Amino acid sequence: TKCVGILTSGGDCPGLNAAIRGVAKSAMANGSRVVGFLDGFRGLVENRTMVLEDRNVSGILTNGGTILGTSRDKPRKMPMGDQILDVTDIAVANAQRNHIDCLVCLGGNGTQKNAMDLCKKGLNVITLPKTIDNDVAETDITFGFDTAIEIATDAIDKLHTTATSHHRVIVCEIMGNKAGWLTLGAGIAGGADVILIPELPYKIESIVDHLLARRRHQKRFSIVAVAEGALSKKESDEIKENGKKKKKKKTYMDDDGTYLVEETTSTKIARKITQACGIDTRVTRLGHVQRGGSPSASDRLLCTRLGTKVGQLLAEGVYNVMVGVKNNKCVPVDLEKVAGITRKVPSDHEWIKTALLVDTNLGCELK
Ligand code: F6P
Repeated sequence: TKCVGILTSGGDCPGLNAAIRGVAKSAMANGSRVVGFLDGFRGLVENRTMVLEDRNVSGILTNGGTILGTSRDKPRKMPMGDQILDVTDIAVANAQRNHIDCLVCLGGNGTQKNAMDLCKKGLNVITLPKTIDNDVAETDITFGFDTAIEIATDAIDKLHTTATSHHRVIVCEIMGNKAGWLTLGAGIAGGADVILIPELPYKIESIVDHLLARRRHQKRFSIVAVAEGALSKKESDEIKENGKKKKKKKTYMDDDGTYLVEETTSTKIARKITQACGIDTRVTRLGHVQRGGSPSASDRLLCTRLGTKVGQLLAEGVYNVMVGVKNNKCVPVDLEKVAGITRKVPSDHEWIKTALLVDTNLGCELK
């Protein structure tokens, strides 16, 4: 019998349990033994395991989070005591110690890279694309994205009613540090008036002009959907010049004295809007709500399809691939083509054209 290892790594999202169940059930159906490693690559390095049997993976399809736990730790650079060490060899040795024929890693871009590191050291791996950011290469979609877009769209709907009543601008910050898929998708689905994503640096003047034009047309409220990683044109030019973002800290006074709070992307945009035109503005940061709760039907279906495809590949002995979705089919793609790449929204993407056609401001002049 083969022995399959499985771990979940990086930020959690709805659908991880559904995918674990899909992998485990289909691997067991082929007679394999399944061992879970706890808390991502950290558990592999510390040899913390959980044997997965049918009873462990029953009844978890609809549950959010991950029964295995997760962490952002990478074998290449792992905090161990007061040191940061490359423990890739320990990770591989522990997989061998547990007689693992193949390690299945469920995660986003960081995870793909970590899996590639282990693969280079001779361990067989298969990965699945998990992230609410939808920014993994070589797949049309990642799991977790559909659920998150539902949550963010629902939030925008709710913000609409209160923004309308008070004739306010509400800036809604949506997750996505490097890629704007979630903000753009939820922004279009929720009918946001302004959508700002990391791929399209914004100019505050463009946003304010749009908000004032709406007022002139008797639309006294507006929703600004902003990705947490959205950048102004100036910030983006600075990064191009210096290679990295300069962190600006803003000081606030508290009852106890002075303390530092970093301005968030959304509070900064709200401040700039009010400074430029005086419109009453409020901020909502959706935060980890977007990664919580039960997966959507579409994510449950996707995770079960992806997970069981892993089971098939294990039976065939196809390793060192990520299972992606292409033209609605689950297909293995070379892990090498995936690791280390962030799939960003291309500026000529259909969703961008769509947003423009319904008079959405994207913070910049785009035709
Ligand atoms: O990668 C998923 C994600 O939710 C990003 O959208 C976000 O930038 C990041 O994780 C937040 O990470 P953490 O949960 O570690 O604060």
